[in-house]
Amino acid sequence: MQVSKDALKQLIRAGRGVIPASKVLEGGYLVNVMSNEVYLADVAIYEERIVAIGKVEEYKGPETEVIDVTGLYLLPGLIDGHLHSECSKLSITSFAKAVVPCGTTSIVSGLDEYISVSGLEGLQEVFKEVKKSPLKVFWGAPYKTPYTFPKSTVAFNFTEEVHQEVQQWPECFGVWETVREAVQEEDEDTLGALATAQNNRLPIFGCAPMARGKELNGYLCAGVRLDHESYDHEEVVEKMRNGMHMLIRESSVTHFLEENIRAVTEVNPYLARRVSFCTDDVTATDILEKGHMDNVVRQAIKAGVEPITAIQMATINSAEAYRIDHLVGSITPGKIADIVMVDSLEGFQVQAVLTDGKLVARDKKMSYELKAPARSSVLSCALKCATTTPEDFQYRVEIEQGTAEVLSMNVKGPFVRKRRDVTLQVANHIVQADTENDVLMVSVLERFGRNGNKSLAFCSGWKLKKGAMASSAAPDDNNIIVMGADASDMSIAVNHLIENGGGQVIVADGEILEFLALPVGGIVSDLEAEEIARQESLLTKAANSLGCDLPDPLMYMFFLPITAIPDYAITDVGPVDCIALTTFDPILALNPGK
Ligand SMILES: [Fe+2]
Repeated sequence: MQVSKDALKQLIRAGRGVIPASKVLEGGYLVNVMSNEVYLADVAIYEERIVAIGKVEEYKGPETEVIDVTGLYLLPGLIDGHLHSECSKLSITSFAKAVVPCGTTSIVSGLDEYISVSGLEGLQEVFKEVKKSPLKVFWGAPYKTPYTFPKSTVAFNFTEEVHQEVQQWPECFGVWETVREAVQEEDEDTLGALATAQNNRLPIFGCAPMARGKELNGYLCAGVRLDHESYDHEEVVEKMRNGMHMLIRESSVTHFLEENIRAVTEVNPYLARRVSFCTDDVTATDILEKGHMDNVVRQAIKAGVEPITAIQMATINSAEAYRIDHLVGSITPGKIADIVMVDSLEGFQVQAVLTDGKLVARDKKMSYELKAPARSSVLSCALKCATTTPEDFQYRVEIEQGTAEVLSMNVKGPFVRKRRDVTLQVANHIVQADTENDVLMVSVLERFGRNGNKSLAFCSGWKLKKGAMASSAAPDDNNIIVMGADASDMSIAVNHLIENGGGQVIVADGEILEFLALPVGGIVSDLEAEEIARQESLLTKAANSLGCDLPDPLMYMFFLPITAIPDYAITDVGPVDCIALTTFDPILALNPGK
């Protein structure tokens, strides 16, 4: 989005009507998010920019394309204010094909999972892909990588020095997802990133669930501008009274809209212009079944927000919060012509979408063929770790026979793991998994060829009676995670991922039951959303057939390496006590015996 003097000259002339518009949208109702009005108005577009709204007859020339949009409502392209598109397992191209027809034309993202697996080289490749897609990505440089405490292994470490370089890039619009703990702990790299951003006048994006009182004040003094994670509407109100822009998250995993919107519908309607929306993590199935940002707008309207206010939340409010409102967020002269057309403000069904002044989607489908780019070896790289054997997943102890008292990480929700003490049998120096008692083995293997780390621990809640499942998509590090009742099946599962360049797999009795290939960085695919959704449901069915009754067995597993959420996690450096922020020994005691 670099600007040249010549391009400016052309645009100014087009704005003055000296050179004719390329396109005119005629007969529609303009949803003016700046003035909070809806009225009949035509829109003149010159190449990729809006140049006039209202009566635009004088902007027409002999070559101007006139598009009749009678009866439709024209609103700015919808903005997802905080998203890890990688979580959908869709590449940027596949993601764009799924969400642009839903009206989402911009996302704010750290692309942090691409960075964790392929560094800045892979990131540059993704930037090129973004430029060829109709979806805009306003990139924030991750405050640091890895996010974990203690530090785990990723392909690339984001440091203060890296920030000094990348914050000068034209693609960089701020610092991504600065978590409160890193500020509170005065982490050197984090503070370096924030100081650099303040000196470069870039906004700092936050992530501070449950930050209140003095902790919130300290966090705000670091210069954080906005937050996307509040657990109730009172937390939203407190953060907003203290100056933050607030994004309400409605993801596939956590549903906060209904509760958090009460800050506006019940407490103070004047807060509305500083509230916006994000989806953070969404699955392909959810996009296909519910939509994307269009669905969030519909939900807000259902929760009692005026349609035009909900549209502001999904457009201009995000644009202002992220300081990108000179480019997107409104249909006004000088802005990029990202325009969504809906049939009615209440029903809010997207009929057509323009990005950069071109019609790209109609009737919920892309109106042209968009192909994924060829991938370099940086992104299609094989998993760089050695083939495993069953012994890698056998927990060896010094006693030959007897029992072991073990701390098992017991899953209580997609992100929550609690302590569960169990007694397991020891046979031939190996602690045995216990499927009758719901105790499985879990391991994380470093896969970037950096150190060959491998951890091993115990988990509960998945209830597999046999077999194993593994994934190379596992935020935030995206090392390989494998879980199972049987060391031999665990080894087969991991080896299958290594041989196939990454993905998700379910194994039982030595056989591959289901496999979803994720060849781009081992985390995403160029397949269409429909195909990813179909294969994901086959994986879930296979895990269910082995005894697991969790709503999404693989997702519950691949969140295990996130150390930011209490009480327990596992990374390549070992099982982690997320409160003490240290690794721990899962063997509590050994009892020799028969
Ligand atoms: Fe996030």
